[in-house]
Amino acid sequence: MLRLGVNIDHVATVRNARGGNTPCPVRAAVLAIEAGADSITAHLREDRRHIRDSDIVEIKNSISKPLNFEMAATTEMLKIALATCPYAACLVPEKREERTTEGGLNVLGNMDYLATYIAELSAANIRVSLFVEPDMATLDACLALKAPVVELHTGSWCYAIEAGDTQKANTEFKKLTNAADYGIKIGLEVHAGHGLNFITAQKLASVKTFTEFNIGHFLIGEAVFIGLTLAIKTMCAAMDEGRNS
Ligand code: PXP
Repeated sequence: MLRLGVNIDHVATVRNARGGNTPCPVRAAVLAIEAGADSITAHLREDRRHIRDSDIVEIKNSISKPLNFEMAATTEMLKIALATCPYAACLVPEKREERTTEGGLNVLGNMDYLATYIAELSAANIRVSLFVEPDMATLDACLALKAPVVELHTGSWCYAIEAGDTQKANTEFKKLTNAADYGIKIGLEVHAGHGLNFITAQKLASVKTFTEFNIGHFLIGEAVFIGLTLAIKTMCAAMDEGRNS
């Protein structure tokens, strides 16, 4: 079983460009579920550049499937997560000046710091996922921290494909498949995300160790041309085709 989590952050990006209420990310979340998404991901950033606090509450209350709350490990975000109680929380690194989440968490360098967040979220029955680079020592650290899930950062692989750098793409793909196999072997659930499109999602779906992809930017961009429903249905079909190949 391979699930699709749809990240609706960039519906909020477009809304915020005009400062009003349209397009509405809550409406996008509901539509995404109707179209076949298995969960909704939303990242409440420190600078609130896309998703707002009220969006998180409304999305949680409006969707019939799980909310995956993407968050930096800060006291402010922890408080919001504990108050909202999403199904899952994905801890990500966050830099104010970055355009998007640019790398995985530095788990090895922040064991004690992250341990508190993972323990508090887990105690509230929120399934914790750590967004990390495909690196085995990091996966060992995630396991030691009792995080049940890791999400492998697929950005380097996707960017290499986009740049036409086949050699780097092959190297990065191998890193992802090796890390996913290792993660499963040591008892972690393994997800993937960042920069995926129809082609890369189909290819990665053929790696049976992944159980969830979280995809945002490409789907919201594609929705401009073919609509959100068709974009999601096409993504589900691509993932099915990859999984059954
Ligand atoms: N997973 C995580 C943890 C992310 O930070 C992001 C980007 O917000 C995604 C998945 C989705 O990436 P993209 O928008 O490139 O599909």
